[in-house]
Amino acid sequence: MKLLAIIGGSGLTHLRNLTVRERRVMRTPYGEPSAPMVFGLVGEHAVVFLPRHGHGHTIAPHSVNYQANIWALRECGVSHVIAVNAVGAINTALAPGTLVLPDQIIDYTHGRAHTFFGSHPEPVTHIDFTDPYCEALRAALRDGAARAGIALAAQGTYAATQGPRFETAAEIRKFERDGADIVGMTGMPEAALARELDLCYASLAVVANYAAGKADDAIDLHAIERYLESGMAQARTLLEHAIPRLHGE
Ligand code: HPA
Repeated sequence: MKLLAIIGGSGLTHLRNLTVRERRVMRTPYGEPSAPMVFGLVGEHAVVFLPRHGHGHTIAPHSVNYQANIWALRECGVSHVIAVNAVGAINTALAPGTLVLPDQIIDYTHGRAHTFFGSHPEPVTHIDFTDPYCEALRAALRDGAARAGIALAAQGTYAATQGPRFETAAEIRKFERDGADIVGMTGMPEAALARELDLCYASLAVVANYAAGKADDAIDLHAIERYLESGMAQARTLLEHAIPRLHGE
């Protein structure tokens, strides 16, 4: 049985098309997740929703308890996770408002609890992370976008940065030389923790701005909010169409 979870990022603290059945407060050996898990239905399919930054958007990217979130989702019986992430565009072909389905990650975060296998008594386990995102879920998202008539950039390399500040122009130039197309603060360690627990995990990224130094002006927080609002509305529609695809419909 497949059970899908959606982890909402900035701009997506609730799912408007989710008929809520239950809210469940969870505890894990790693502490509490960002918020109570919201169980509900999208159409006729069960979905679990978790707002990564808390219901009131109070948890900064470096303070999110990624371990507790992923552990709790698995405890709920979740098998698939779509992570929604706000990002800046390093590749200027990805204008603000664009939806991106990343296929690779470079991790520049530090000091985050990034593994379930780091401490005794868990045996050390090395996961294969060559392709960090789950192809079955990426395919469902591509199909959902096609059905909804929503443009989706079907690949891109996600640079995960520490935040909460935005980057310097030189940092963005370095990420670009490294091969990154988009930059965000929440992609890691979430994706790796999901792989450690064998969850099928993909990211749907919403471009909120051109990354530092990639536009004439400095980063404008009001403009980010506007692009996030319209981008997340599109993301919701795409998700509605992708969920039946995941279930083979
Ligand atoms: N940098 C990092 N994270 C982000 C950005 C950015 O420019 N925009 C949205 N999240």
